Formats: sequence, structure tokens, C-alpha cells
Amino acid sequence: MNENHAKVCTSPEWAQYIQTEVLPALTRDVDLGDRMLEIGPGPGAATEWLRTRVTALSAVEVDQAAAALLAARYAGGNVEIVTGSADALMYPANSFDSVGCFTMLHHVPTLALQNRILAEAQRVLRPGGVLIGSDSLASSDLHHFHADDTYNPVDPGSLLSRLQTVGFSQVTVIVDEIVKFIAVKPSDPEVGASAAEEST
Ligand SMILES: C[S@@+](CC[C@H](N)C(=O)[O-])C[C@H]1O[C@@H](n2cnc3c(N)ncnc32)[C@H](O)[C@@H]1O
Repeated sequence: MNENHAKVCTSPEWAQYIQTEVLPALTRDVDLGDRMLEIGPGPGAATEWLRTRVTALSAVEVDQAAAALLAARYAGGNVEIVTGSADALMYPANSFDSVGCFTMLHHVPTLALQNRILAEAQRVLRPGGVLIGSDSLASSDLHHFHADDTYNPVDPGSLLSRLQTVGFSQVTVIVDEIVKFIAVKPSDPEVGASAAEEST
């Protein structure tokens, strides 16, 4: 991430925004369960809020320095920090009740890799488990903010079919000043398979 992110994503104002506006809206009607995985925690604005709402929180962060800082902060608590890329998760299938990814997909350089991350989220969720996520919308300001950094914003219009294609059902996509999404791994694998077939 570039210096703009170092300033904004570590700021109390960003943490407050994530914790008072984004996460409460995403989880209003969602049961996170006991075991949750967060993808791309960065400096931990969402991690700090989520860890008080589940029994065990795992977080996978590709940036070694960011992962090391979080691991030191949460050592001995209910947060496990893993360094690695979320497009190849180390967890077996059906490991989590919920998965979250916030403001991270636009940092993933290709559509194929973003889809791979969504597919991995689906794989590690238990049947009936839920994915919650959010991301910034494309804009010229956001593009400038990402000078010399990866900038691959998510097209909200394609998110429903992309989530269905990797096997999610009950997909909700909300577009306001950002995009928020909620999707469920079907309890009945046939449901996910037919949703994926219909969206291809
Ligand atoms: C803009 S930060 C957002 C951090 C945090 N989720 C938040 O909302 O404040 C995006 C984070 O995603 C991480 N990231 C990017 N690609 C990733 C991948 N393939 N696997 C795991 N983390 C990734 C980046 O290293 C960065 O820490």
C-alpha cells in the first residue's frame, strides 16, 4: 500500500468509520457465529471490532509487515494472524461460520484473483455460513489515492453473478457511497451448483 493508505487506514477516523458505519450495517441481520475469518485486515480497523463479536477470529494478510504488527498486538488473545494470500487459504473446507473482507478486493490486481479469493471464502465457509464484505467504488479521487499502488475497483453490477458463480446464494449487494455485499454458502450444495449454472 502507498503512503496515502499508511495515513488513512491507520487513522482513528478510518477505524471509527469502519466500526460505526460499515460493520454495523453489514452485520445487522447476520449471525457471525463463533469462528470467523477476516481477509486483508491491514492495520486492523475491522479486526478490532470483529474480535469482540466472535469467539475466535482468524485473519489472513498478505503484507508481512502488517501481519507482524497485528500478530504482536493480538498475541495471546482470540485473534490468529496468518501471513499469506487469500487466493490460496491454508484452511480446510467448512472451517468458518463467517468470512469478512473489507476495502481489500480493489487491492487485488486481477479479476481472476479476486474471483479466486471469493471462491476460497466460499470453500472455507461451513454450509450456511456467511460472507460479508465492502469496498470503495471506482472514482477518479480513489484512482489518484492509489498512485503507484494496485487499483482494481470492483464493479458492483457484476458482483451478484460473480458471487453466484463461485457457489454463493442469497446474495445481497448494496450500493451507496460504497459497495457492501452479503452472501450465504448454501446448506444444500445442489442450490449453489444450480445458482452457478444459471449465472453462466
Ligand atoms: C486498504 S487495506 C484495508 C484494510 C482493512 N480491511 C480496512 O478496511 O481497514 C487492504 C489490505 O488487503 C491486503 N491484501 C491485498 N491482497 C491480499 C491478498 N491476496 N490476501 C490477503 N490480504 C491481501 C493488503 O495487504 C492490505 O493490508
